[in-house]
Amino acid sequence: MVQDKLINEKDEFVGSLQLTPEKIREDLEKMRDVEGFPIGDVEDILELSDPPYYTAYPNPYIKDFIEYYGTPYDEETDDYEVEPFVENESHGRTDSVYNIHFYHTKVPPQAISSYIKHYTEKGELVLDFFAGSGMTGVAGLRLNRYPVLIDLSPFASFIEYNNINYLDSDKFKEFAYDIYIILFTRIILIYIVSMELIIFKETLLYGVKSKLAHFVITIIYFSMLNLRRGILLIVLTVILN
Ligand SMILES: C[S@@+](CC[C@H](N)C(=O)[O-])C[C@H]1O[C@@H](n2cnc3c(N)ncnc32)[C@H](O)[C@@H]1O
Repeated sequence: MVQDKLINEKDEFVGSLQLTPEKIREDLEKMRDVEGFPIGDVEDILELSDPPYYTAYPNPYIKDFIEYYGTPYDEETDDYEVEPFVENESHGRTDSVYNIHFYHTKVPPQAISSYIKHYTEKGELVLDFFAGSGMTGVAGLRLNRYPVLIDLSPFASFIEYNNINYLDSDKFKEFAYDIYIILFTRIILIYIVSMELIIFKETLLYGVKSKLAHFVITIIYFSMLNLRRGILLIVLTVILN
């Protein structure tokens, strides 16, 4: 069975590729002219990749994968026969993984599950060449199948990779905290600058000098835009005055 081989001989397959950092770079360079190669620094592209399983560029190891695990189709011995699937399917868009990330042509995994159950058995491979955000993979894993996902778009393959792989929550917290600090600092700066500009304008045009008037004008101005911004500005105005 392909799936037994896939698990038991995983290390042998990866070992047979003899991947070193130099070989990975060499293999990447060979894919540069392939349609779909991303625009970006090699370092960044590699940082996003996990070769040979997932690459943020056209995967150079697909051919090796098929040669290692595949069996040529033989009409004489092939006994796969399943009637076409003919049920009506209707599903909402409430699935938690479905809602993790936006993707323009996403399909709820529940809508794919019936097809997977109909055409495959537990433990079999499910291949989606046009995987988009990877909902076939999500449905496949939930049904104990092994998904293989491919998409022309690096953006799609990045989303699908993250949708079907485990998340390192410590690493995630670390990154999220860094992003939070950067954004928080920038937002505070933007508020301070905009508040100073408003006060400057009011003073210049209307001769408003009272701190209370500045305070009220700022609150009205910003609460018209966004309540949370307004509240933050009240706090800032109080602190700065
Ligand atoms: C209808 S979407 C698939 C949506 C997917 N079922 C999901 O759940 O997100 C079709 C996908 O095919 C990809 N695609 C189009 N042409 C392709 C090609 N020649 N090779 C690989 N992927 C391709 C597009 O990037 C798009 O993500």
